[in-house]
Amino acid sequence: MKKCLALMLTGVMAMSLLTACGKDNAAETTGDAVAEETETESQEEESAEAEDASAENAETESAGEEDGSTDADVASGVLSDGVLTVGTNAEFPPFEYVGDDGEPDGFDVALIKAIGEKLGVEVRVENMEFEALVAAIGNKIDVAIAGMTITEERQKVVDFSDPYYDALQYVIVPEGSAIASMDDLAGKNIGVQLGTTGDFIASDDVEGANVSQYNKGVDAVNDLINGKVDCVIIDKNPAQVFAEKFEGQVTAVDGAQFGFEVEKYAIAIPKGDTALADQINAALKELKDDGTFDELVSQYIEN
Ligand code: ARG
Repeated sequence: MKKCLALMLTGVMAMSLLTACGKDNAAETTGDAVAEETETESQEEESAEAEDASAENAETESAGEEDGSTDADVASGVLSDGVLTVGTNAEFPPFEYVGDDGEPDGFDVALIKAIGEKLGVEVRVENMEFEALVAAIGNKIDVAIAGMTITEERQKVVDFSDPYYDALQYVIVPEGSAIASMDDLAGKNIGVQLGTTGDFIASDDVEGANVSQYNKGVDAVNDLINGKVDCVIIDKNPAQVFAEKFEGQVTAVDGAQFGFEVEKYAIAIPKGDTALADQINAALKELKDDGTFDELVSQYIEN
């Protein structure tokens, strides 16, 4: 991933950067300026990988596959260094938050660690701003797990694993508020976490809304409590955690009342890295089949 840092300095557009840094895509982009710059380093690796892959199809390089623990039969280059660098935004309980030890914890963190174990790689979690995650995939981080909803916009830049959780936006309102429908939201001051689907709803779908974007959901909720915003649009489970935390002051209203659509969380991966997608999906399936996934749901989400 280091090779991409030099590129970043050239200020190349995020899209080109992602394409150039995706190892599987490097060869395809030959001819464009970015690909040329990465040629020396990237292509060495590319050809090494190609040899690995063609040398023997049955021979898999991922450590996790030595024990036959995944179905995928081609290893992704991302895992070849034995480390999966994962970006998250630990401001989204119960999916991710900073634990008592100062390290990211939560359902997503536990899930990706379990996936890493299946794949035989070490998982390193980087806590960063939610807004920055998608563009960081393929350079600063390998993948992102952050209660991230699959959206068409994001799919232009990254691929997603199979979905692992259904979600819905909720509306946090002050206790006793009359806000109960989409019409009630019109013209309101709405707090959101920057770059989230709650932000997109408030900014794009709500008539005449005045949207305040925060880096942390909890800051939006604090401004709700001190009256700076009228409501906060955020995913169901974090909304419920915040409503519980500030019990008596705010309540979380079901987004179905507002006509919000069901969303699906998935792990965001470099565009075109189907080998990695296959490996992650295989690991995810195993965790569902062996009951680990459900254990994590009851440990982190349902309790
Ligand atoms: N599901 C929403 C989205 O994808 C919000 C995710 C926010 N996640 C976080 N870790 N802060 O836009």
